[in-house]
Amino acid sequence: MSTGSAMSTGSAMSTPSATLGATVELARLWSDPYPIYRELRRREPVAWVPAANRYLVARHRDVVALERDPETFSAAERDSLMIRVMGHTMIRKDGAAHARERAAAEPPMRPRVVANHWTTLFQRTADELVDGLYDRGEADLLRDFAGPYAARNLGLVLGLPDAAPADLQEWSQAMMDATGNYVDDPTVWRRSQTAAQQVDDAIDDVLGHLRRRPDESVISAMLHATDPLSVEEIRANVKVIIGGGLNEPRDSLAVGAWALLTHPEQRAAVEADPSLWRRAFEETVRWVSPIGMYPRQTTREVVLGGTRIEAGARIGVLIGSANRDETVFADPDRFDLHRKPNSHVAFGGGPHFCLGSWLARSQVSQVAWPTLFRRLPGLQLAPEPEVELGGWVFRGVLNLPVRWTP
Ligand code: HEM
Repeated sequence: MSTGSAMSTGSAMSTPSATLGATVELARLWSDPYPIYRELRRREPVAWVPAANRYLVARHRDVVALERDPETFSAAERDSLMIRVMGHTMIRKDGAAHARERAAAEPPMRPRVVANHWTTLFQRTADELVDGLYDRGEADLLRDFAGPYAARNLGLVLGLPDAAPADLQEWSQAMMDATGNYVDDPTVWRRSQTAAQQVDDAIDDVLGHLRRRPDESVISAMLHATDPLSVEEIRANVKVIIGGGLNEPRDSLAVGAWALLTHPEQRAAVEADPSLWRRAFEETVRWVSPIGMYPRQTTREVVLGGTRIEAGARIGVLIGSANRDETVFADPDRFDLHRKPNSHVAFGGGPHFCLGSWLARSQVSQVAWPTLFRRLPGLQLAPEPEVELGGWVFRGVLNLPVRWTP
């Protein structure tokens, strides 16, 4: 775990960016970003961080202000590695072009469709996975449950029900690794190209059928929208949903299960009152935000949080820091499912607000946690190995060893 020592005091430096942001190291952010975020919020809330090649925006109020001004803080980042890997997806578009693709993909992810259609299917996935694990009496909940559960559900939602969960997980990881491949590692590119080709092949296999027989899936919605998406647009947007719709439900599921297993009084409260599962979910994604940072780029010179930012600057929106902002959340490092209100920004804000938030809530807090805690008697953390966490752009537990009494 890192400490605030990731940064020098820098008292001799003349500008804030030379004192604090310049000393931020990515390896320290990866192992434990929170002490660094605390210092940034306190001393340099909009910091030029050379290691990230971006201004990092650390305070809740600045993140909210930025999301209210998408014309200045564009999602269409230049030289985006995501575009190289996935094609031009909705998440890197602005204005009408973005709205058109979002509108085509959105209907299957509405709360009513989630409640009336997907939740039953998610329950089936959860029960089948628990059936397969039950007799073992022990598991790594991240590897053996959360990963395959999120992958299987995503295949159903997308309209790729025959895609193997292991393949979906590989595609997701390969493409996400490539979107961060700033060191230009050729192995990472090759792996992502293979993944992207396999996603295209899987989509090609279902297009004919879904054209003839529309269903509740996202690919079907994109094909049959009032303004339908082209095959190229479908391919890009399916890839961004595979990249973003798998790891985040997986990570929130695992982090929240770990939080409940290590806070017995909160676990008892939620087991006694099922209405609290939803609160546990909101608190989990605030406490350890599965997406900790996402990019923007300025279209003009602007002042944010007292710092002048030039036109064309790359921005890192630190929602993982905003969600620990002590001016908004009392005792922000504490997991507290009773927190009220909980105005976290874990799903972003503005025009790109997460399309899958209701799917994630259903999968994790309505189905997975109640099923695991009900069906695995005496569920508890195994004494070893120790649970580890990692990441700042994406963050979660790296393992979750548990046992129960079959
Ligand atoms: C706990 C789970 C999740 C978290 C924390 C999360 C977080 C986010 C965040 C922060 C953004 C905004 C990114 C940006 O503005 O650049 C986003 C966008 C998006 N998310 Fe999620 N997400 C989750 C689950 C899902 C799921 C399950 C799906 C779909 C199956 C999904 C699909 C999307 C899509 C398509 C966008 C882009 C929307 C747009 O550009 O208009 N997400 N998500």
